[in-house]
Amino acid sequence: MGTEIRVEGLTKKFGSQLIWNDVTLTLPAGEISVMLGPSGTGKSVFLKTLVGLLKPDAGAIWINDKNLVTLRENDLYEIRKLFGVLFQDGALFGSMNLFDNVAFPLREHTKKSEAEVRRIVMEKMDLVGLTGAESKLPGEISGGMRKRAGLARALVLDPEILLIDEPDSGLDPVRTSYINQLFIDLNAQIDATFLIVTHDINTARTVPDNIGLLYHKHLAMFGPREMLLSSEEPVVRQFLNAQTIGPIGMSEEKDADELASEIGQELPPLPPIALQLGTSDGSPRRGQKPAGEWCRTHGVTPPPGSFQSKNAGVPGVSQVPAEGPYAATLASADSGVQAPTSADATQGTTAGATS
Ligand SMILES: Nc1ncnc2c1ncn2[C@@H]1O[C@H](COP(=O)(O)OP(=O)(O)OP(=O)(O)O)[C@@H](O)[C@H]1O
Ligand SMILES: [Mg+2]
Repeated sequence: MGTEIRVEGLTKKFGSQLIWNDVTLTLPAGEISVMLGPSGTGKSVFLKTLVGLLKPDAGAIWINDKNLVTLRENDLYEIRKLFGVLFQDGALFGSMNLFDNVAFPLREHTKKSEAEVRRIVMEKMDLVGLTGAESKLPGEISGGMRKRAGLARALVLDPEILLIDEPDSGLDPVRTSYINQLFIDLNAQIDATFLIVTHDINTARTVPDNIGLLYHKHLAMFGPREMLLSSEEPVVRQFLNAQTIGPIGMSEEKDADELASEIGQELPPLPPIALQLGTSDGSPRRGQKPAGEWCRTHGVTPPPGSFQSKNAGVPGVSQVPAEGPYAATLASADSGVQAPTSADATQGTTAGATS
């Protein structure tokens, strides 16, 4: 299970506007990769291109020895069944309740009986902590619940490839940690190839096997987590440490004056590399590598204090549950069934919000 995606020389323009040029990378089968990049650098466009919704201007996307870019509509339809996609806005049908939204791909792409559809939908709703919310309309639930309903829908066809656009936008840090744990556990369970777009540095530093960074119309770097977290490359270093010193400015690139004013300013040392988040039950994932392996095999000395804790070097530390069923906790937190906790108090407007 889990399919490799090989992207070669991919270029995308809208009219005369170049979005990114010559992107080459391999998403290894069954591994979790994260794509980072300043807002507007084309991360969502990249996901939509991978799934064949947008046509690139040049390059190839190889999946199971087929180049998705040159496929005809029928073959493209077939290969799309390998994908589960969570779009940035959730993309739920507003007039359908959550059950029907999640059931949609099953009814559209399979000939399963309604009893079978119900079984699968309820299983995925449970997985993302939405049991009991099946009859709600997307407009009646919180942003975080909509994200998770979108995720349940992305999972119903047992995808080989899961593309997830900003699962954590609009989520508080605690639920972001739960979602991250869910991804790690899901990856171990379904063994699909994951690509997650996120702006959350905590997620980027602790969840993936690989990290990529889109910047200034190209792929600045893509590779194993430890490679990017130990990198001194200015853009990578600036982004992964959420710093203002570096080439990235408020409007994407700094001008010469801004850069000149930074000359002589000393950068803080690279923070330690945290241990990668493990599965809740300690079971191994296929893509998981021993801590420090990449650094050792490449003769790179990791920053002092690396690989000693789950939260080392992570700005705005959040606690990750070591074990226990996250789904039940997520569900009760969102529906307000449990007595409110201090975490819920900070979530007031999102939890159970109706509109
Ligand atoms: N269908 C489209 N037609 C024309 N331009 C588009 C289209 N979709 C996206 N763009 C442009 O492509 C660029 C990249 O957009 P995209 O949504 O991929 O950015 P992003 O990296 O996902 O940003 P964010 O982090 O804010 O979500 C933007 O300038 C956007 O206006
Ligand atoms: Mg986007």
